Order: sequence, then structure tokens, then C-alpha cells
Amino acid sequence: MKNGMLVPTLKKILLGTAAILTAVGRIAAQRGCTLSAQGGDDAPQLLRAVRSCDTTRIPKGTTLNIATRMNMTGLSNKKIQLEGTLRFNPDLPYWTGNGFFIPFQTQITFWLLGGENIVLTGGGTLDGAGQQQMYSLRISQWSMVNGPEWTNLINEANGVVYNNIRITAVSNSSHNPANTDGWNVYRSNDVTIKNSVIVNGDDCVAFKPNATNVLVENLDCTGSHGISVGSLGQFPGMFDIVQNVTAHNIKMSDAQNGARIKAWAGQNVGSGIVQNITFSNFVVSNVDHPVVIDQCYMTSASECAQFPSNTFIEDIVFRNISGVSSGSTVASLNCSPDGRCTNIEVDDLNLSAPSGPPDFECSNVVLSGDSAELFPECSET
Ligand SMILES: *[C@@H]1O[C@H](CO)[C@@H](O)[C@H](O)[C@H]1NC(C)=O
Ligand SMILES: *[C@@H]1O[C@H](CO)[C@@H](O)[C@H](O)[C@H]1NC(C)=O
Ligand SMILES: *[C@@H]1O[C@H](CO)[C@@H](O)[C@H](O)[C@H]1NC(C)=O
Ligand SMILES: *[C@@H]1O[C@H](CO)[C@@H](O)[C@H](O)[C@H]1NC(C)=O
Ligand SMILES: *[C@@H]1O[C@H](CO)[C@@H](O)[C@H](O)[C@H]1NC(C)=O
Ligand SMILES: *[C@@H]1O[C@H](CO)[C@@H](O)[C@H](O)[C@H]1NC(C)=O
Ligand SMILES: *[C@@H]1O[C@H](CO)[C@@H](O)[C@H](O)[C@H]1NC(C)=O
Repeated sequence: MKNGMLVPTLKKILLGTAAILTAVGRIAAQRGCTLSAQGGDDAPQLLRAVRSCDTTRIPKGTTLNIATRMNMTGLSNKKIQLEGTLRFNPDLPYWTGNGFFIPFQTQITFWLLGGENIVLTGGGTLDGAGQQQMYSLRISQWSMVNGPEWTNLINEANGVVYNNIRITAVSNSSHNPANTDGWNVYRSNDVTIKNSVIVNGDDCVAFKPNATNVLVENLDCTGSHGISVGSLGQFPGMFDIVQNVTAHNIKMSDAQNGARIKAWAGQNVGSGIVQNITFSNFVVSNVDHPVVIDQCYMTSASECAQFPSNTFIEDIVFRNISGVSSGSTVASLNCSPDGRCTNIEVDDLNLSAPSGPPDFECSNVVLSGDSAELFPECSET
């Protein structure tokens, strides 16, 4: 009997020791966690790991299945080493009903990542819906239901670096627009997006209201709407700021725009300021409008003349932008009347049209820089 008692006691002690060792192991392992696919929805384990580990690694060859939305906000000093793949489960009815609603421009998203000093790197793949085809399916279906945008939104974050990311989000329909933004930066400061390849159908990167101190470099964008500031000043009562943005070394192919700033004018819109934006070293190919300021966005010329934009645009540089457009207009710098654009500089523009002379359009702006003479109506001299 005594022995019989002893054995369980020993077992308990041994188990207790094992538990302590496991706990110690967990503490030691806390700094770096490596995940493997669990065969179901990997979102909960990824969320847990990112909350409790400093570095969460998804190794090469590993595909995590994300079947439920992930709220990764309030993080600080975290690293996600994505060498493998995050695959969003292609369950349209689920995502349509379960995204996080973003009131701004009524977008939804299903991965919220926010906080301070977050690094998402590793050269892996952030895979919208698994296979490219599945993603395409998602996009065309969302377009069909006239649904919300697909977007990677950097929202209310500070100190975020994206490096070595590939985004493939192709809509194969020639009829429906696909709102497949690469990145939207919104109410965020100190953001870097670099060394990435994007094949998509909407803005490659967009700087939305209150994107400040953003560096975008070494991107290869195909099929997009360009690198865009805005649209800004859309909502009455809101004041939008985009300040200190540099976008350079950008290859832009088969796109609607290259480097673009767009702000609303008219009645019942908002206001704001776009200041200190530099677009440099762009190479464009088959791009509808390689260089754009549209300060009468979504506003007729007559309404824009009567109600100029209250989103002021200042200290903008377009430098070393070369290549071939898709049509005759290679640049269109159209500001609202009444001096709403100031200190706009154009340097080393080497843009041509596929055939015939290129058009450099402009209005209501005085340009400086060595390419200003390309815009006869708007050059200082
Ligand atoms: C995300 O999580 C944070 C912190 O846990 C919470 O405050 C926030 O409301 C959540 N956001 C959404 C949209 O659920
Ligand atoms: C969509 O187009 C891409 C690129 O051409 C192709 O790889 C993919 O198979 C197409 N997907 C569908 C569903 O047709
Ligand atoms: C942008 O920041 C300014 C200054 O902090 C603030 O007044 C404004 O409401 C912000 N706008 C948005 C859209 O968040
Ligand atoms: C923009 O950069 C200047 C110069 O570094 C700095 O003084 C200013 O605070 C920055 N603006 C924002 C919104 O951080
Ligand atoms: C303009 O923005 C860049 C970052 O894009 C920053 O380095 C620079 O200091 C800013 N310049 C001014 C005058 O604010
Ligand atoms: C102009 O941009 C191209 C393409 O990014 C780059 O190779 C070249 O070095 C740039 N020229 C200058 C003078 O910076
Ligand atoms: C402008 O681009 C063409 C090719 O599109 C190139 O041949 C030419 O050297 C470039 N000019 C300058 C001044 O860089």
C-alpha cells in the first residue's frame, strides 16, 4: 500500500518537475517562436505567438492557414519573420461578413497590425488568398458584389518596416475595377516599405490622411494605380496631413499612374495639407499618367474654379522620372485656382509617349526645376 502511495507521489513530483522545466523552457523560448501549420485555422496560434514572442518565425516551406480575422494591434517591439507563407483562407462569405470595418472610405481589412516598432520581414509571401487564382477569384467576386476594398492598411502605427514582401493580387476581369491596394498608410508615422514586388490592380502604395515620415524605396509595381498621395480632403470637417514622404527607385509598369497626388475640391469636402513629398528615380513603362497632381479630384473644372481645393500642396519634387507612357499625356500637374499649389519642382523628367510628341499638361501652378521648361504654360521663366 505504502509503495502504491509512493509511486503516484513520485510521479507527481516528476510531473511537477517536468512542468517547471516546461515553464522555464517557455520563458527561454519566449524571445523567438517558430510556427508550423496546425492543420486548421492557424490565426489563433499566430496571434498568440505574436503577442507573447519577440520574434515569430514562419519558416520557409511553412504555410499558415489564416481562416479568421486577426487583430494584432497594441503591439510593440515585435518582429515577424515571414520566410514561408501566410495564406488567407478563400472563404468569401466569411471574410465579407467578418472583416474589420475601417470607417475611412468604408474599407475593410482582415488583418489589423498596429503599434510601435513592428518589423515584418523575411522575404516570404503574404498571400491574399492562397493561390493567385484564388486571390483573383476573391477580387472578381468582391467586385461583383460591389464590395469593400481589399487592402493592407497601416493604421495608427508608429515605426513599421516592411521589407521583401511580394503582393500578387490580380483581377483577371477586364471589366471590373479591383480595389487591391498594395499598402495604404493612414494616421501613421515613420513607415518604411522597401524591396518589394507588387502585382495588383489599385494603388501600389497610397498615402492616406495623416501619413507622415514615410519612405518607400525599391519597389517594382505592375498593373497598379501608382504611388499615390490621397485622395485627401474628401470628408467635411476633417483635416488631412501628408508630410515628409519620399518615394524613390520605383519601377512602375502597366499602370494608370506613376507618381500622383490627388485632393478633392468642391463643396462639402474637407481640407488639409500635403507638404514635402519627393518622388525620384522612377522608371515607367506603359503608364497612363506618369506624373500627376490632381487638385480638382472628382470635381468638375467649373466647380473647382468656384470652390478650389482646401487641401494645399507644397514643396513637392518630381525628380529623375523616365520612361514611356501609354498615351500622349506624360505629365499632368493640375492645381486648383488661387495659389493652392506652391513650390512644385520638376527635374530630370525624361518621359516620352509611345508615338508622337509627349504632352506636359499643367494649370494654376508655377513650376521650378530644370524640367519646368517642358511645361510652357507653367514655367517660371
Ligand atoms: C483590437 O484589439 C485592441 C486591443 O486588444 C482593441 O482595443 C480593439 O478594439 C480591437 N479592434 C477591433 C477592431 O476589434
Ligand atoms: C489570372 O491571371 C494570372 C496572370 O496571368 C494567371 O496566372 C492566373 O492563372 C489567372 N487566374 C485565373 C483564375 O484565371
Ligand atoms: C490629422 O492630424 C491633425 C493634427 O494632429 C488632426 O487635427 C486631424 O484631425 C488628423 N486627421 C485625421 C484624418 O486623422
Ligand atoms: C517633417 O520633417 C521635418 C524635418 O525633419 C520635421 O521638423 C517635422 O516635424 C516633420 N513632420 C512631421 C509631421 O513629423
Ligand atoms: C522632408 O522629408 C524628408 C523625409 O521624406 C525628411 O528627411 C526631410 O528632413 C524633410 N524636409 C523638411 C524640410 O522638412
Ligand atoms: C535615375 O533613376 C534611375 C532609375 O532608378 C537610376 O538608375 C539613376 O541612377 C538615377 N539617376 C540619378 C542621377 O540619380
Ligand atoms: C532619356 O530616355 C531615353 C530612353 O527612353 C534614353 O535613350 C536617353 O538617354 C535618356 N536621356 C537622358 C538625358 O537621360
